[in-house]
Amino acid sequence: MKAALIEKSGGPEVLVYGDMPDPVAGPGEVVVDIHAASVNAADWKVRSGDYGPMAAYPYILGRDFSGIVSALGADVVDLKVGDAVFGVCDVGQEGAYAEKIAIKAAIVARKPESVSHVDAAALALIGLTALVAVEDTLRLKSGETILIQGGAGGVAGFAVQLAKHIGARVITTASAANHDYLSGLGADEIIDYNTQDFTAVVSDCDAVFDTVGDDVAVKSFAVLKPGGRAAFVASGGTAPEPPRDDVQSLRPQVGRDRPHLERIVELVAVGAVRVPEITLYPLSEAAAAHRVSEARHLRGKLVFEVR
Ligand SMILES: NC(=O)c1ccc[n+]([C@@H]2O[C@H](COP(=O)([O-])OP(=O)(O)OC[C@H]3O[C@@H](n4cnc5c(N)ncnc54)[C@H](OP(=O)(O)O)[C@@H]3O)[C@@H](O)[C@H]2O)c1
Repeated sequence: MKAALIEKSGGPEVLVYGDMPDPVAGPGEVVVDIHAASVNAADWKVRSGDYGPMAAYPYILGRDFSGIVSALGADVVDLKVGDAVFGVCDVGQEGAYAEKIAIKAAIVARKPESVSHVDAAALALIGLTALVAVEDTLRLKSGETILIQGGAGGVAGFAVQLAKHIGARVITTASAANHDYLSGLGADEIIDYNTQDFTAVVSDCDAVFDTVGDDVAVKSFAVLKPGGRAAFVASGGTAPEPPRDDVQSLRPQVGRDRPHLERIVELVAVGAVRVPEITLYPLSEAAAAHRVSEARHLRGKLVFEVR
């Protein structure tokens, strides 16, 4: 099969398009013929060595995908060859930038016909992350106010829509060029972080969801009301230490399971969440897609059309 991969000789900075052996389904696994895979910020962080050395070379990046089941391992009873599925690789596993992947059947979900492979791949990890952060961790409620940092990104764009669906008032931050996009996703108030300091114009929030990191994360505590909750997914594996003792600082534990993927499907089906803006690339252009992702100003998602 073809894959976008990192070779030892090229070093971690170099993503090449090459041949790899086809994967085989182990017990409890399926092989999925991938039709689409998406780019996530984690991918260039792994590639650039931020998460430590590669487990082994050649190394195939990629965390979410959509495709067709082409082989079943032992003990797989709830999926069959030909099923359209989408999913996110298990924690510690990657390899979606490829024509095939072997993955635990229990952590993929059926893709409805009404959602394309490209859209399902775009939604999988961002949807899972936003659901775990906003519903499971922040436990956002109707009538509450939330500040979502980095609204034009994939995770935050899903979170804006989810928070509106829950019935919250949604404030978000983005460059001016992305304000119409965020109005379209339902944001109530959009702050141009290039011209306004959000801490000067936002206060008394019940919750913050930060997808930007660094000083944006740390400054976010200032907008919370006493008793407020903040969740962080761009500040590493632990939540930042709050500079005040009357708020909660939370690091969502984004696991992998089928029910969260089915919840994404349900939210799309009822019209609560629409697919983010998508820019398509062939898998052979993975290096170019990474240059866009790591510049950190893309709107929505980058998706590889694999076949
Ligand atoms: N399991 C997990 O914990 C998990 C899962 C998924 C993602 N993540 C993390 O979540 C973060 C977000 O990922 P993503 O893929 O959704 O988006 P992303 O590609 O990292 O973010 C791109 C967006 O960030 C916005 N942005 C950049 N600087 C900003 C600032 N100072 N203030 C407000 N917005 C700013 C840009 O909008 P403008 O052009 O308008 O600036 C752009 O739309 C990443 O750090 C990623 O690693 C964690």
